[in-house]
Amino acid sequence: MCGIVGVLGNHEAAPILVEALKRLEYRGYDSAGIATINNGTLDRRRAVGKLVNLSDLLVHDPLLGKSGIGHTRWATHGAPSVDNAHPHQAGPVAVVHNGIIENFRDLRSELAEAGIRFVTETDTETVALMTQRYMSEGLAPVDAARKTLSRLEGAFALAFLFEGEEDLIFAARKGSPLAIGHGEGEMFVGSDAIALAQMTDQITYLEEGDSAVLARNSLEIRNEAGEIANREKRQIHMDQAQIDKGGHKHFMAKEIAEQPTVIGEAVRHYLSNDGKSVALPGADIDFAGIDRLVMVACGTAYYACMTAKYWFEQLARIPVEIDIASEFRYREPPIPVRTLALFVSQSGETADTLAALRYCEGKADKIVSVVNVPESSIARESDLALPILAGTEIGVASTKAFTCQLTVLLMLALKAASDRGEMSEGEIAATLGELQTLPGILNAALEREGALRASARKLAEARDILFLGRGLMYPLALEGALKLKEISYIHAEAYASGELKHGPIALIDKHVPVVVMAPKDGLFDKTVSNMQEVMARNGKVLLITDSDGASEGAQGVWDVVTLPAVDDVLAPILYAIPAQLLAYHTAVAKGTDVDQPRNLAKSVTVE
Ligand code: M6R
Repeated sequence: MCGIVGVLGNHEAAPILVEALKRLEYRGYDSAGIATINNGTLDRRRAVGKLVNLSDLLVHDPLLGKSGIGHTRWATHGAPSVDNAHPHQAGPVAVVHNGIIENFRDLRSELAEAGIRFVTETDTETVALMTQRYMSEGLAPVDAARKTLSRLEGAFALAFLFEGEEDLIFAARKGSPLAIGHGEGEMFVGSDAIALAQMTDQITYLEEGDSAVLARNSLEIRNEAGEIANREKRQIHMDQAQIDKGGHKHFMAKEIAEQPTVIGEAVRHYLSNDGKSVALPGADIDFAGIDRLVMVACGTAYYACMTAKYWFEQLARIPVEIDIASEFRYREPPIPVRTLALFVSQSGETADTLAALRYCEGKADKIVSVVNVPESSIARESDLALPILAGTEIGVASTKAFTCQLTVLLMLALKAASDRGEMSEGEIAATLGELQTLPGILNAALEREGALRASARKLAEARDILFLGRGLMYPLALEGALKLKEISYIHAEAYASGELKHGPIALIDKHVPVVVMAPKDGLFDKTVSNMQEVMARNGKVLLITDSDGASEGAQGVWDVVTLPAVDDVLAPILYAIPAQLLAYHTAVAKGTDVDQPRNLAKSVTVE
C-alpha cells in the first residue's frame, strides 16, 4: 500500500525523504514523489516506477528545502502515472494520502460545480482542492485542512505541506496508521516507524481519528472530538538488522532463513517456566468457557487459520468456523454466546480483518488477535493481542510471519486442549517438548535448499502448476500455490488431494507439474493413490515428503525432495519451508521482483 513520509528538518529534505521512501518500498508501490518548500515556495517531483526513477529525476532537477513530504503510491483511483502520483498540489497546498476517500465523487462534483478543474483521476486531489478552496475563503492552513477532514468519508492517513509555512506539517489518521518521529529540533511523520528508523527511535503513534500539527520543536495532537490528546512518546527498538538484508540477496531469503530463530523465540515466549504447559504472558483465555471459535484473516494469515482449525478441532475438540475477512464482514454471520473471535494478521492493519473484528465487538465473548505488530490497530482493538514475535517482515510474500502464526496458534490449541481436558498434562508436555526441537528440524529443512532450487528451476518452465495436500497439508498446499503465484506470476492452484477427481484432474497433462506435500502420516497412502491418478494421466509429480514417504511413494515421480521426519502435528510448520523455497527459487529463476512483486502491497489498508 501507499507509504507516507514527512520531514521538518535541519538538512536538505529531498535525500532524507527518498531514503525514508526506500524503507517503505516493501509496502508495494507503482510511483513515487516528493514535495518541499524552499524560500516559502512549494515544488514537487514525481516519477512512475521504482524509486530510482525519482532519484534520477532529482539529480537532473533537484528540489531544495528543509521541509518536505513524500509518498510511494499503490494505485487505487487512476492508473500509475506522473499526474496521478502524489504529492498532489492545489495552489498553496500539497498533500500525500494513504487509503481511500469514499465520498470523493460527491466532493468532486461539488468542486466541479464551483468551477474547479481537476488534473488527475485520484481521490486525493479532491483533498488538496478542498483545502485550497477553504484557504481561499480566508481560513488558515490548519483550519482549512481540518475543515476538509470533516468532509471526508473512508479510511485514510494524510500529511499536508503549505506554501510559505516552512515549520508546519499537518497530519491526520482515520483507518490508516501514522507515526510521528521526534528528533533534536526536528520532527518527522511516517506511515510506519520503519520509514523513520534512520532519523529517530522516538515515536508517537497517532490513534484513530487523531490529527497532529507538527513543527520542529512542538507537536500538538487532537483527538476526533478536537480535544488536545496526550499520546505516549515511546522508544522503538527498531533493530537495524531487521530492516537490512543481512547479506541475503532478498528480504524474502533472509526472512525464510530466520525462521528457526524466530520460531524458537515464539515457543519460549508462550512456554510456562517448567516448559511443560502453555502460558499466555500477562493474560489468560479459559477455553473451557468457550463453545466455539471464529477465526478470520486474509491471504496467508487465512491459511494459518485454516491449519489451526484442524489443530483446535482435533486436539481441543472445539468447533471452529474460519472465514476470509472480506466475506465475513458483509455476510452478517450470527455470533452465538460463548464464542471467541480470533483475528490473525501480520501487519495488524489489514482493512478487511479490522472491519471483521469491529463487527464482532459486543457480539463475541472475547476478541483475541494474533499479530506481528503490537502497536497495530488490530492489536489495540482486541481484548487480548498475542504477538507472534517474527520481527519486521519486509518481503511482500509472507514467510516467517506465517510460521510464527502457526506456532502461536498451535500453542493456543494445546492450551485449549489442556483447559478442556482433551489432552493430559503428559501429552501436552510431550508435544511441547517436540515443539522445542522444531528450530533444529527447520534448520535441517533449510539445508535442502539446493534440492529445492533444482526443482524450482524445472517449475520455472511451467505455465500452470497444481499443489495437492490432504488434512493438515491441504492449507499448506494452498499457501504454496499462493506464494508461487505472488512472486513468480506462474498460475498455481491448490486442491485437497481427494477433490482432484471431482474436476481439477481434467487439467492434468504432461505440461502441468503437480507439487504434492505428503509426510508419511496416516493419510499418506490415500495421497499416494491420488498421485497415481495424476501420473496415469502423464502428470509430472514433485513429491515433498520424508524419507519413509520417499521410499514408499516416490516410484515414478518426476522429482522428490526429502525433508526430516517430524511429529504429525508439527508438519505444517516444517512443510512451509519447502513451499517458500520453491516459490522463492522459481521467482529467482524467472527474474521477477521477489521482494516487491507487481501489483501487490505488503499491508492492504484498503478494501
Ligand atoms: O498483514 P496481514 O497478515 O493481515 O496480511 C494478510 C494478507 O494480505 C497477506 O498474508 C498476503 O496474502 C501476503 N502477501 C501473502 O504472502
